[in-house]
Amino acid sequence: MSQFHPVVDSTTVFRRDIFKNKVLFCTGGGSGICRVMTEAVLRHGANAAIVGRNEERLKRAAQELSAATGNACLPVKADVRDPIQVQDAVKITIKRYGRIDFVINGAAGNFLAPISGLSENGFRTVIEIDALGTYHTIKATLPYVRASKGSYVHVSATLHYRGTPYQVHVSAAKAAVDATSAVLAVEEGPHGIRSNVIAPGLIAGTEGEERLSSKDPTGQKNWYLPTGRKGDSRDVANAAVFLFSDAASYISGQVLVVDGASEHLRGPM
Ligand code: HXC
Repeated sequence: MSQFHPVVDSTTVFRRDIFKNKVLFCTGGGSGICRVMTEAVLRHGANAAIVGRNEERLKRAAQELSAATGNACLPVKADVRDPIQVQDAVKITIKRYGRIDFVINGAAGNFLAPISGLSENGFRTVIEIDALGTYHTIKATLPYVRASKGSYVHVSATLHYRGTPYQVHVSAAKAAVDATSAVLAVEEGPHGIRSNVIAPGLIAGTEGEERLSSKDPTGQKNWYLPTGRKGDSRDVANAAVFLFSDAASYISGQVLVVDGASEHLRGPM
């Protein structure tokens, strides 16, 4: 199928300086989609802190992101399941930059497991990373995001819109993330804060694709591609750039699905 809508870099659409003097705090920014989201925000003039558990990977990513964009990227080791570690990561970020304007809640865990085979700890682990991790990050960053009248983007998914087999833990966690964002938007709107969710569909080359797409044990979940291509991490990054930008100043409490209409097109099951 021909591609009418090829992926582009946000710098071909938005001015390069729109995030000058802004600071991004991104959990899960050491790899995958969140790393590409961080790169895009850096390319528009911001500095960033990327947070994750794997220190080596974080350091390497921070160096590469800084070199590629010319802006500062600080690696900060923390497990989002631990509120103290998240608070310490925020302190380190504030010590370095003095402010936080944008937050990406991106740290996530995933694996395929049926309800009948999933252990209580397996369910709890993903809830703790995705849902509690998002909550901890919001709590720790909120005073600074209030001060800057900034904006949150939480990375969710589309799989909880339907019953997606072998994804009960992730579905429950992402539904919680969506709900948390909506409450944050209405409670903190009066303080000048916006909060939105990005829900990526199938994004090529990601751990999500590797973990879910090629290994559907039921054979039921097919991915439909109305636009003729899979998503690219830059498609998700472009959505984040838009949502953080002033062009989205009246957009809050929303879920922006980035899936090329895949959820709307279902084949025979
Ligand atoms: C069944 C599993 C399992 C599996 C782990 N568990 N993997 N159960 N099948 N494949 C269980 C373990 O047995 C254990 O329970 C519990 O989960 C905790 O596992 P640990 O390995 O001790 O936890 P930890 O080392 O913290 O690892 C967390 C993780 C891991 C979530 C399990 O996969 C991880 O860190 N992933 C991070 C990276 C990631 O997943 N990124 C992809 C996100 S993609 P017991 O009972 O044995 O103690 C994404 C996209 C979604 O979110 C949408 C796509 C379209």
